[in-house]
Amino acid sequence: MPGLDRDCASAAAPKRLFIKTYGCQMNVYDSERMADLLAPLGYVASDTAEGADLVVLNTCHIREKATEKVYSELGRLKAMKARARAAGGQMLLAVAGCVAQAEGAEIMARQSAVDVVVGPQSYHRLPELIARAHRAAGERLAADFAPREKFDSLGVARGATGVSAFLTVQEGCDKFCTFCVVPYTRGAEYSRPAAAIESEARALAAKGVREVTLLGQNVNAYENDDGGGLAGLIRRLAAISGLDRIRYTTSHPRDMDEALIAAHGEVESLMPYLHLPVQCGSDRVLKLMNRGHTAEHYRRIVERARAARPDLALSGDFIVGFPGERAADFEDTLSLVRDVGYASAFSFKYSRRPGTPAAAMAGQVEEVEKVDRLARLRSLIAGQQAAFNAGTVGRTAPVLFEKPGRRDGQVTGRSPWLQAVHCEAPASLIGAIAPVEIIGASPGSLSGRLARERA
Ligand code: SAH
Ligand code: SF4
Ligand code: F3S
Repeated sequence: MPGLDRDCASAAAPKRLFIKTYGCQMNVYDSERMADLLAPLGYVASDTAEGADLVVLNTCHIREKATEKVYSELGRLKAMKARARAAGGQMLLAVAGCVAQAEGAEIMARQSAVDVVVGPQSYHRLPELIARAHRAAGERLAADFAPREKFDSLGVARGATGVSAFLTVQEGCDKFCTFCVVPYTRGAEYSRPAAAIESEARALAAKGVREVTLLGQNVNAYENDDGGGLAGLIRRLAAISGLDRIRYTTSHPRDMDEALIAAHGEVESLMPYLHLPVQCGSDRVLKLMNRGHTAEHYRRIVERARAARPDLALSGDFIVGFPGERAADFEDTLSLVRDVGYASAFSFKYSRRPGTPAAAMAGQVEEVEKVDRLARLRSLIAGQQAAFNAGTVGRTAPVLFEKPGRRDGQVTGRSPWLQAVHCEAPASLIGAIAPVEIIGASPGSLSGRLARERA
């Protein structure tokens, strides 16, 4: 690695690394890869910041609250860093992720305790930046957009894994929804070469991973280098022995093509779950959002996907109180939710993000109105989620067991529809898929017992 401090790489005592991850699954994936990258420098994962030699905050810029959390955490860490120094130690502080990309220079100016700021496309430079920071010299800020370089330099080796792993296949966004910072923090759409993804998936399967979730800000905009799109990639990965479950997230309605819909009916290991954000049910607001689809278009996709895979669990994202959203527009959102029927969904109050077109739009909605709409939408979705979970009671379904349950003798896993399932079962089943009869449902999870017959 150019510029890498060799003394640092060969340091004897292990150094402690604490990474705190905010935001989406892509950040979770990136945090794991940062830990992999730093391992050769002697960094070993720690689960607290206290006493760590290096703290990395992997940040999210999507809503104002997410960004605020980072600055308050930095305040806390500054004090911790001072305590470490007073005790004769050294704690390095790095800010990564989307806030680093969007506000790198501001972080440097506002928080002198920060040693390194590194944007999402520059993680491969982290070892070099950390080595330089150790010598208290050189550049502290890396925020370029070079995704190819990033993935090439990350290589295939993956450290910590469980039964289920994330695998980033696509990054960035060219859609420019008027409310969203992602096109600015993650750059243009980029798809990784299929062969590199396949190698990574094979390496994961060899480590005992049974399920991969393919990640991208617009994962279904994935373009295969041999022209296959996401459906082609899924079929390629489905051939890997040991990889029994494939999921993907997050999809955009505009990129939901026939091949991907067909794959849901044909590829056995592709799980019956689709996260397909619509944001809003009003065409007028969808247009202001620059979503590039109508509510009707969305309804038709859902119909086609359910025709291909009738038991598909549908999930989505919603924004309430977008500028210009009137009471009638919000009612359209409620109607769409009633018509579609969700297994789960995320909903957010519109958050005004500096630099995005919607931040400057007329008709900003009052906070009280946003709070009221969010509560009404959430209660509708909660009812649908409870009904969806209750609907699985009495069925026998294959469950992938992931970890010990909360109670002794229990193991927790996931149903094909991504519900958590708690089951009395031996711990030796962790990593296995076994048929479970679902005997109870709560709004957030299911309970079941091992079934004798195959699911
Ligand atoms: N690429 C995905 C979404 C990525 S961001 C898609 O287009 O569907 C995840 C979610 O955060 C979005 O779906 C949206 O619901 C929400 N979000 C993004 N910007 C927001 C903002 N300014 N205020 C509130 N919610 C926002
Ligand atoms: Fe943001 Fe829209 Fe891109 Fe999704 S599609 S990341 S909401 S700009
Ligand atoms: Fe947040 Fe960046 Fe993900 S803004 S949601 S961490 S892409």
